[in-house]
Amino acid sequence: MQVSSPATSRALTGWAIVLVAAVAGLAGAAAAGAAEQEAPLEPLVANPDNGQLLYAQQCARCHGADGRGGPMQEYEGIAPSLRPDDNPNIEVAYLDLVFSTGRMPPAGSPYDNRTREVVLDEQERADLVAWMADEFDIDGEIPEVAEGSAARGQQVWNANCSHCHGATGAGGVAGAGAWTPSVSDKSAQTIAEAIRVGPFQMPQFEAGQISDQEIADVVAFMDEVQVEADEQILGIPELNPVFASAFVFLLALAALFLIGVIGSRPRWFPTPPEDLRRERRADVPAGAQRRAPADRGES
Ligand code: HEC
Ligand code: HEC
Repeated sequence: MQVSSPATSRALTGWAIVLVAAVAGLAGAAAAGAAEQEAPLEPLVANPDNGQLLYAQQCARCHGADGRGGPMQEYEGIAPSLRPDDNPNIEVAYLDLVFSTGRMPPAGSPYDNRTREVVLDEQERADLVAWMADEFDIDGEIPEVAEGSAARGQQVWNANCSHCHGATGAGGVAGAGAWTPSVSDKSAQTIAEAIRVGPFQMPQFEAGQISDQEIADVVAFMDEVQVEADEQILGIPELNPVFASAFVFLLALAALFLIGVIGSRPRWFPTPPEDLRRERRADVPAGAQRRAPADRGES
């Protein structure tokens, strides 16, 4: 192409600048995107001093300043010790679990596992765990969860968890009479912690019963059912076993009632006129007639 007039060459230079700027902008954006993806997550730096403060404000009044527990002021009963030397349940994963699920500090009665409110954020959880681990000699670590298979996870779930938490982890009422929380909406970390720790009424599962890989599989299965639940258009909630059996019981009761109504003459059925009744009585054999109380009065 032949560039003839100065006007044409100015226009061409202008377009070239726009093109170069656009290419540079795109490259810059791509680079920024890559940097964003590759940037490691900021590691949490725990601040034990803040943990000490949180313990004094949120735990000491029930579990004692020394963590040894004792009678509570607001509630009947004894708050358990949080020191592993007299409460072997206590480990780092247990602390993280009760904080991240809002089980402790309790929103209402500490015995009612339905009243929950997560008050500690991630940073505060790390602070409190760091201070308590050091002060009360608490061991353990927060489990890491690998990639798992949802199909295998469903088998592990059905064999170990569904009878308490329901077929898809929606929660409900456990056999022991304890209410079970939903599991499908929990993080991988929370599920792994619960399996290893066995919080409160829940049994603990050792690595011999459920391996680390099986935990990852359960997490994958829970993720899958959660995605399915989110995609449900009608949002029909899963019926937990107790509600389902109550529902079936009510249906059976209704069916029995209906059979009763159909089988007998309903009371609201119009009474036949007087002469019609007399005619009918004449048809009845003499013996039967005498036994009827109304007729005894007449004769
Ligand atoms: C209102 C009193 C109260 C407060 C406040 C409270 N707890 Fe508790 N905590 C209890 C009681 C009672 C239990 C036992 C509940 C049960 O067995 O059902 C308990 C149980 C626990 C357990 C499980 C112990 C075990 O043996 O299973 C941990 C861990 C725990 N609390 C930590 C804490 C921490 C940490 C805080 C502060 C962030 C806190 N709690 C605040 C009353 C309290
Ligand atoms: C005997 C009944 C029972 C069985 C079996 C059981 N759980 Fe639980 N689970 C509970 C109860 C009860 C709680 C609530 C404890 C509390 O906070 O008081 C619970 C709590 C949890 C939590 C914490 C949720 C929260 O919000 O606090 C998770 C996660 C969990 N269970 C997962 C599982 C998995 C996974 C299995 C199978 C490997 C399982 N459970 C087996 C009864 C059971």
